[in-house]
Amino acid sequence: MSQVATNEEQPELESNPNHIGKRKIHTSYINNPDFVPPKDFVFLPTLKEVPINLKGQTEIPFDTQIDYTKPEYQYRDFLPHVTLTSEPALAPYEHVDVASRADPEKKALFAAIPHRKDMTPNIGTEVRGVQLSQLTDKQKDELALYTAERGIVVFRDQDFVDKGIEWLKEFGSYLDGTEFDTHYDGDLNTIAWHSDMSYEVNPPCTTFLSLLAGPECGGDTLFVNCMTAYDRLSPPMQQFLEGISAVHSGQTQALRLIDSHLARRPTIDTVHPVVRKHPVTGRKALWVNNNHKAELWEKGTVTVYDNRMVQHSVTLDYALDNDVIRHVFRLTPQRERPAL
Ligand SMILES: [Fe+2]
Repeated sequence: MSQVATNEEQPELESNPNHIGKRKIHTSYINNPDFVPPKDFVFLPTLKEVPINLKGQTEIPFDTQIDYTKPEYQYRDFLPHVTLTSEPALAPYEHVDVASRADPEKKALFAAIPHRKDMTPNIGTEVRGVQLSQLTDKQKDELALYTAERGIVVFRDQDFVDKGIEWLKEFGSYLDGTEFDTHYDGDLNTIAWHSDMSYEVNPPCTTFLSLLAGPECGGDTLFVNCMTAYDRLSPPMQQFLEGISAVHSGQTQALRLIDSHLARRPTIDTVHPVVRKHPVTGRKALWVNNNHKAELWEKGTVTVYDNRMVQHSVTLDYALDNDVIRHVFRLTPQRERPAL
């Protein structure tokens, strides 16, 4: 994903009107009600043409072990599809973090949370007794700040998923540049520490991830605290790393997606600093390494993590066979261009 490179000049960002209050959402590979395959499209042997969306239009299911034509699967609407439509590259823009307007003491959020417990000293807090879906805008701002501080905040027993895709998109649209997508075990490509879509000029920030289906045990997503990783380096090493940048390339992911017709946006490579600073908390984070970790997964759990301050990896510790599926969805809002 990332290779260390020397600092080099990057073209100036274009100023873009996206800012707090401007709502924008992208949709990744889920059902697209406006999609119709081109007439000359040749279906690969592994793909079957199946009418599935609400308008009765034809979409192409992703290559999974689930039979998309059968309605029994509870989260059928969340199954990924090949849509073949292309999208323009995400436009760089100047962004103001919603956490910047949060009460530093997060009083409104904490008043709504009857039970919270740190999962480890360095990363992760588990929350019970409150529904994400009921949070006010003020509480969402405070959650963005709290997530930046704790790395991840894990909400148990949520009705989030049951609200449906359109509601989830609306929820995500509170945060600018949100991408809504679903992942299925067949497209596991992240058994390595990473921050999502780090090759974008404006990579994601406060991200919402929830498990729709998974194995009885195993298949956890692990998180590491990149702030602690940075803090524990020696001052000379911190100084050295603050002087260099890394090329984050979307090439590898694009090559894999092209095979399955999932690549929809032009491939992008971006140079980012190896150490970045959170625009609200001021904490510095190492963006290419890992440190302490926490584990989680229970159905009904929604994990909120700050993609700038933590990295994560799937654990492939279970058999990828026809009886076990791992299906998740994610709301991935963009944020500022990384800077130190
Ligand atoms: Fe990821």
